[in-house]
Amino acid sequence: MSAVHFDFTTLPARDRYKLLVSVVVPRPIALVTTVDAQGRANAAPFSFFNVVSDDPPLLVLGIGGREPRRDGHKDTVRNIGETGEFVVNLVDEPLMEQMNICAIDFPPDVDELAAAGLTPIASARVRPPGLEKSPVRLECRKYMSIPVGPEWRTLLIGEVLAMSVRDGIVSPDTLHVDPDAFSPVGRLHGGGWYLRLTDRMRMDRVTGLDGDASSRA
Ligand SMILES: Cc1cc2nc3c(=O)[nH]c(=O)nc-3n(C[C@H](O)[C@H](O)[C@H](O)COP(=O)(O)O)c2cc1C
Repeated sequence: MSAVHFDFTTLPARDRYKLLVSVVVPRPIALVTTVDAQGRANAAPFSFFNVVSDDPPLLVLGIGGREPRRDGHKDTVRNIGETGEFVVNLVDEPLMEQMNICAIDFPPDVDELAAAGLTPIASARVRPPGLEKSPVRLECRKYMSIPVGPEWRTLLIGEVLAMSVRDGIVSPDTLHVDPDAFSPVGRLHGGGWYLRLTDRMRMDRVTGLDGDASSRA
């Protein structure tokens, strides 16, 4: 079968971005809340985001650099560098417009929660607040921060210390999540495209030769 081939070792960064964010879809959105050393709150969305381990429970954020007019880092990276803590607020449809406001490049001293009209809610294990409106909040401690590339990019690995889930989404007994009660949006390619979780399919895991169809990854 013929195919169009792209050599990523010679392709300009802008084109690599365009291709990658269009094919690795949908991506979940982490609306990350942090505080700086003075306790001022910040919120920003990131779709270079996923969970990457359950033991230890780790998630990763891919955070780009900023024009070097400040220190080259986005406020989220700078704040996590100062405090070592953050909260990932998962984003559903009612939260989208405010999530979009949080993506504006506000100066570091602007409280983005107030700018977006978002109500903070105290976290149990970390200093940064979560967002009351978010259906699921993951309280995280910095596990590792890896600088990548020439332009202040950072892979931020966080360890999940606690999770808060809005009532009615998860059964405390079975830990089953009701997919009709939890509807996170997914990020698609550029041009402002997103996806709803309205069309699901299921397939049973094939049993291995040893008869073990593990439900873990
Ligand atoms: C849906 C969405 C996803 C985004 N994903 C990322 C991302 O994965 N990495 C990134 O560096 N910026 C991403 N951005 C842009 C940041 O949110 C934006 O640069 C923000 O101003 C950073 O804020 P901060 O300086 O307060 O950390 C995304 C924006 C939107 C709207």
